[in-house]
Amino acid sequence: MERAEERRVRLENWSAMAVGWEREREERERVAAPITGCLVQALAPKVGDVVLELAAGQGDVGFAVAPLLGETGRLISSDFSTAMLEIARRRRDELGLRNVEFRELDAEDLDLEDDSVDGVVCRWGYMLMPDPRAALAETRRVLRPGGRLAFAVWASGDSNPWVTIAGRILVARGHMPRPVPGEPGMFVLGDEQALRALVGGAGFASVQVEMVSVANDYRDVDDYVDRSSARGGMFARAWAGAARDEREAMAAELRDAFEPFAVDGGYELPGLAICVLAS
Ligand SMILES: C[S@@+](CC[C@H](N)C(=O)[O-])C[C@H]1O[C@@H](n2cnc3c(N)ncnc32)[C@H](O)[C@@H]1O
Repeated sequence: MERAEERRVRLENWSAMAVGWEREREERERVAAPITGCLVQALAPKVGDVVLELAAGQGDVGFAVAPLLGETGRLISSDFSTAMLEIARRRRDELGLRNVEFRELDAEDLDLEDDSVDGVVCRWGYMLMPDPRAALAETRRVLRPGGRLAFAVWASGDSNPWVTIAGRILVARGHMPRPVPGEPGMFVLGDEQALRALVGGAGFASVQVEMVSVANDYRDVDDYVDRSSARGGMFARAWAGAARDEREAMAAELRDAFEPFAVDGGYELPGLAICVLAS
């Protein structure tokens, strides 16, 4: 696929997911709280700073930063999808934040001046871009000298069974294509050493890493399927596309595979993210 066509498809897919992303906000933010906390602490924003959030989605990480910037500071909440920016605007209004502006920006080609922001934050963004090195170099370009980047990506697939168990079942049964190594995806930046090299290679002199665990809790397999489907991503499309008897067979496989993660009242499936502070 041509690069422009590939970008159009990715943009369309993300825009289609905005409704589900908004619907899942509360659950997502509850589970992701340790990652958000790590990012805000690493960024250490000060009153008066200008902070850019990249690939912001509904904007929650930036909205945790905005109150720390005070009236003299400013958050630029950005995403390449206008549909995502719309749900972020609604959330900003709900929170009553007054120091936030929204920009439609592609993180791989930022329409911003050199040395124009004090901090950049990005949760679950760089791994989804075809050229994360270009995006990181763009980030470095717009950061002032001494500026800080705090971002999070998922660690390896093996440390994220909340996604990979279902993914393996869907692939094995032919409902989802096998992930192509190196292609954008949840776990493509999940190797800590390779990630350090990538960030350093994009021009950051200092790279510090913290591994952050999360716990995804589900009442049962139906709850897992409902909530994963609500997001409207690859799982949702693959599950919805499978015939009813296939879905029943996959639900039974999920029940067996989730057994090691059974807790009182359902399942607790672990996840692991890499939280990076670069400057
Ligand atoms: C997994 S969501 C994460 C959203 C948000 N950061 C969060 O943590 O909830 C990925 C987001 O990246 C955005 N995105 C993907 N590629 C992008 C790019 N090249 N430039 C800007 N945004 C991008 C999508 O539109 C989507 O909102």
